Order: sequence, then C-alpha cells, then structure tokens
Amino acid sequence: MEGKNPVILSSDPKVKEMFRKMIADTTDAIIGSYDDNTAYSGKNVYELRKSLEDLGFLPDQGLGFDKTLETVRKEIMPHLLRTWSTMYMPHLHAPALTETIASELIIGTFNDSMDSWDQGPAATEIEEDMVHGLVRLFGLGSGADGTFTSGGTQSNMAALIAARDWYCNRKHGCDVKKEGLPPFYGKMRLYTSEVSHFSMEKSCHVMGLGYNSVRKLPVDSKCKVDIKKFDEMVQQDIKDGLLPFCAVATIGTTDYGSIDDVKEMRRICDKYGMFLHADASYGSGLVVSGKYRDRMGDLSVCDSITVDFHKMFLLPISCSVILFKDKTVQECFELHADYLNREEDEEEGYINLVDKSLQTTRRFDALKVFMAFQTRGKDGFASIIDTAVENAGYFYSRLVKDPAFIAPVEPEISSVVFAVIDGDEANKNIRKRLMDEGTVIGQTSKDGKVMLKFTLLNPALTHDHIDKIIARIKELRP
Ligand SMILES: Cc1ncc(COP(=O)(O)O)c(C=O)c1O
Repeated sequence: MEGKNPVILSSDPKVKEMFRKMIADTTDAIIGSYDDNTAYSGKNVYELRKSLEDLGFLPDQGLGFDKTLETVRKEIMPHLLRTWSTMYMPHLHAPALTETIASELIIGTFNDSMDSWDQGPAATEIEEDMVHGLVRLFGLGSGADGTFTSGGTQSNMAALIAARDWYCNRKHGCDVKKEGLPPFYGKMRLYTSEVSHFSMEKSCHVMGLGYNSVRKLPVDSKCKVDIKKFDEMVQQDIKDGLLPFCAVATIGTTDYGSIDDVKEMRRICDKYGMFLHADASYGSGLVVSGKYRDRMGDLSVCDSITVDFHKMFLLPISCSVILFKDKTVQECFELHADYLNREEDEEEGYINLVDKSLQTTRRFDALKVFMAFQTRGKDGFASIIDTAVENAGYFYSRLVKDPAFIAPVEPEISSVVFAVIDGDEANKNIRKRLMDEGTVIGQTSKDGKVMLKFTLLNPALTHDHIDKIIARIKELRP
C-alpha cells in the first residue's frame, strides 16, 4: 500500500501529479473540515482522549496517504482549533494569513536549511535582506544585525546570552564563551517587570545564573515598570555588592499588553552600564501602524529587540527575530566547524547564518515574512494591527460602562483583561461554559483574583461579535 505513494518529489510527471493530488486533497480536507464559526468542537479532555486512543500509533505496515488523510480528516481535524474563528481569543496565538499558509508549503517542500549558504543559497540571502530591512524599520542603525529564531522565548534567550557575555567580557574581561561563568556570576542581576514573560527566568536558569538572578520590578497602575523603583532597586543592589548587568523592557506584556517606557529604562541602564533588551514579542506589530506606532516608544535606544511574527503579524508558528544594535555581540554564537561553516567561506563572500544563531538546522521562516509583506505591504499590515487595537479599545469601553464587569487596565494594544463581579468561581465557570459552546477565551489572575482575558488578534472581529460575546457572558452569570 505504502508503495503507491511517491517517496520523494522528482521530475517524473507521474510523481508530480501524485504530489499535486496529495496537496489538493489535503486542501479540500482542510476547507471541508469546518462549516460553522466555532473555534473548537467542544469535546472535553476525556472524550477527546478516548476518541483518539484507538487510532493506532506507529503501525508496522503503512496504510498509504489516502487512508491516512481520511483518518486525519475524520478523527483529528474536527477537534483541531480553528484559530481563524472569531470565537477564538484566549492567547497571543494568531490565525495565519492565507498567503503565509501557501508559503509554509514552499518552505516544507524545498526544505532549505538556514545553517550554511550551501543548504539554502537564496534562503540565506532573503533572510539577510529581511533582517536588514527590519533593522531599518526599527531604526537600529548600520551596525545592527540579527537572526530568525523559533519564537519569543528563543529570541529572548539569545538576547540575554549576548547581554551576559557582553557584560562579563567588556566590563570584566572574562570570556564566558571559553572559560565558562566567572567567579562573580552569582552576583549578576537582571531587571524586568513583575508582569514580564517567564522566558526571562527560564533563560537565566539555562544560562547558569538561576531564577534568583531575576529582579522583578514593581509596576504602576497601568502595569508598566515603575522607573523610580527600578532606579532605587539597582542602587541598593550595587550597595549590597550585586552586579546589575541587564534590564528587559516589555513592549506588550502577555496579559495586559502594557508597554514599558524604553527611553526611561535606557536612562537607568546608561547610568549603571547595563544592557537593555526589549521583549517586543507582542507589541512589535505596532511598528507598522500609522496610528499607534508611538505607543511602542522608540525601540532604537535598545541594545536588542525581540520581534515575533507569529503574534500580531498573524504568521504561522513559528517565526521570530532577534535584532542586535551592535552586531559584534552576536559573536558569542559563532563557532566554526569544518563540515559546515568554514572560515574560508566568509573570506570568499559566503554567509553561513549558523555563525550568529543558537540553532543549527533552521527553517526558512523569513520566506513567510517576505511573502506576507510582498502580498500586503506595510499598509495592509497597518490596517490589520489598527483593527486589533481599535477592537480592544471598543471592548474595554463597553466593559467599563457596565456594572457587571471589572476591567482594571485600559488596553494599549489588543488584550483586554476583565472579570464579572460575581467572584472567582463564576469567572472560571463562564470560561468553561464558553469552551463547551466552541468559544475559547483566556483566564489569568490579577491581585489573586481570577480574571478573563480576550486577545483580539483576529482582523475579522467586528463590534457586533464583541457585543454578542459580552451579552453571552452576561447570560452565563450566576
Ligand atoms: C511578552 C512575551 N514574551 C515572550 C513570549 C514567548 O514567545 P513564544 O511563545 O513565541 O516563545 C510571549 C508569549 O506569549 C510573550 O507574551
């Protein structure tokens, strides 16, 4: 049975036709997989587990593609999330722009790898051009560079590794890359808001500094870093013999979309000789907005910036970039191997992108960004981003007028955190009831209280959808 399917693509017309049919049948299965606007089939965890456990995993004999697709179509696809549904709003998890789904097919088919030029000649050149375009878009200057990564967590980790090595090397003459952590490593401290993403702690653990090296900065009523307290905390830490090496500004916190003041954080970092990273995983989308770009602040003052394309930019997972203002800090990732990235290649003008990346084998994700911007232009993106921001503003304006709700923070981007006034259990139940109905919303907490969360990334959302969901939530109150 398995022999009926081509093993790999070739120039044989029969193989090409089989490939075309596979892709066409897959597309038909996807298109036919939903006929309503629900985000989820509503199966609970036990029902879903039961329905999938008999599918048979790792069979000895292959069934062929047609039967396999049929199983996926009937048994799996109906319970996949429809991220494009206007009833899917829990996380920074986007519906994918259609042209970028097409680009995924190209990426997967050609399967270029970004480690060395000979594994992706055009892919390497496109990624380089894309990175340089982004450097210009964020105003980082001619000495800047960067690389694509698998997501915000990886981009943040790359930034913090570079910050650690920069600090140890340039401030203390210690070469972490060769010698490992210096004797004073236990005193190094990183400063970031108490509502920043947990990838800071994870990175500090992996980097050998530990969770305790992360100093959580208090935030004001808008969930932004309290600059005065930041300054005081660094001063006190220095008095206590600690070594502040880096601060991370969040440009769009995960729950509230709150944006730290990078200009002020830069001032404090300069005062104490610290590296400043901007985690703009979420808020980087504002860079293309005509109306709301100012909300982001001037990120060109930062030493590095995380930009995620699989959040506000609506690209398929995964797609992120880390940009460095001074490209020489990326040297911490450079290591030559005779089989891959020979120094002689560089002398001849070839670029091996593994020289500036933590990953070795890496997808050609830059193609998605290329195709999306070619298709829509910055203007097309501006309208997507502006719709998301406006919808959040509308949602918030409805909530604050209604005594049934508490909405503690006015959104700056596209997330709205709120609760019905009836207490934690009522809020938890509302989320579960909505999930059963196929509407997926988020849950988080504020000051120990359960809160509901809407992340309004979907440009198809209208005020009418928002009015309806508010009305439904009110019906579900106890
Ligand atoms: C502010 C922020 N930073 C970083 C991340 C991590 O990004 P990723 O999930 O792409 O690793 C997230 C994820 O939601 C985030 O909200």
